[in-house]
Amino acid sequence: MYMCEINNAKSQSCELKEIIHVTEEIFILYVNWEWPPPRAGQFFMIKPERSSVFLPRPIGIFEYNPREKLVKFLITKAGRGTIELSKLNPGEKIRLSGPFGNAWADFLPESGKAALISGSAGIAPLAALAAERPDFTFHLYAGFKNGFEEKIQENLVLGSAIKSEKIVIAAEDGKNANKGLILDFFSDPCSYDVIFACGSTPMLKIVKIKCKSADVPCFLSLESRMACGAGACLGCTIRTVNGNRRCCSDGPIFPAGDVIFND
Ligand code: FES
Repeated sequence: MYMCEINNAKSQSCELKEIIHVTEEIFILYVNWEWPPPRAGQFFMIKPERSSVFLPRPIGIFEYNPREKLVKFLITKAGRGTIELSKLNPGEKIRLSGPFGNAWADFLPESGKAALISGSAGIAPLAALAAERPDFTFHLYAGFKNGFEEKIQENLVLGSAIKSEKIVIAAEDGKNANKGLILDFFSDPCSYDVIFACGSTPMLKIVKIKCKSADVPCFLSLESRMACGAGACLGCTIRTVNGNRRCCSDGPIFPAGDVIFND
């Protein structure tokens, strides 16, 4: 039974089909979702039906399988809300509201080559784009705090981005990856037609600077604290050169040149 409908988004009680604990911090949820189909870059507000947390958490889609009607989320434990989600078992109910926000494909040129730059779980919305547009050429630059013990973990976390033409992985601990921050290994923005990035604010700031000096179009997926996710509460306001914007409904993807970061 749908509870409400906002701008084509729905709020629905959905069944958790599967949960995979990839590392101590990262897990993947497979949740039944019928309609409307989410697009890469969009997000859902999610929380367990039985929850001690008041507000749902905004989580970008990792992939959507329209045949199986399954939406996949890659989540990093980062507080009570996400820890609650990590403790769910298959068959339990999760409330999903969405899909909200704009989509990467709105900013993708007709042809060319795109760099996807991610920090930690920021890989998820970019992997969703790789799944949505297998016809496009992507180079992936993915940074993590901890590297991977096994190839299978790496494949799980990279999702469809594993099919990218070029893949560079960095981890701060250097385990089975380049040691360091991912931007240490991204040196040639000029060789791309567009650059998409999702990750921590410090990482996005540097991506913005690199792309500006190379004069390459760049789009950033921003994070903000959210209450409604639907543009109604103004709790997610960010500053841009065009004035204040709502991260949830005007974004979460913005042209890098528009974003004003707090110092
Ligand atoms: S979260 Fe309510 S307006 Fe964005």
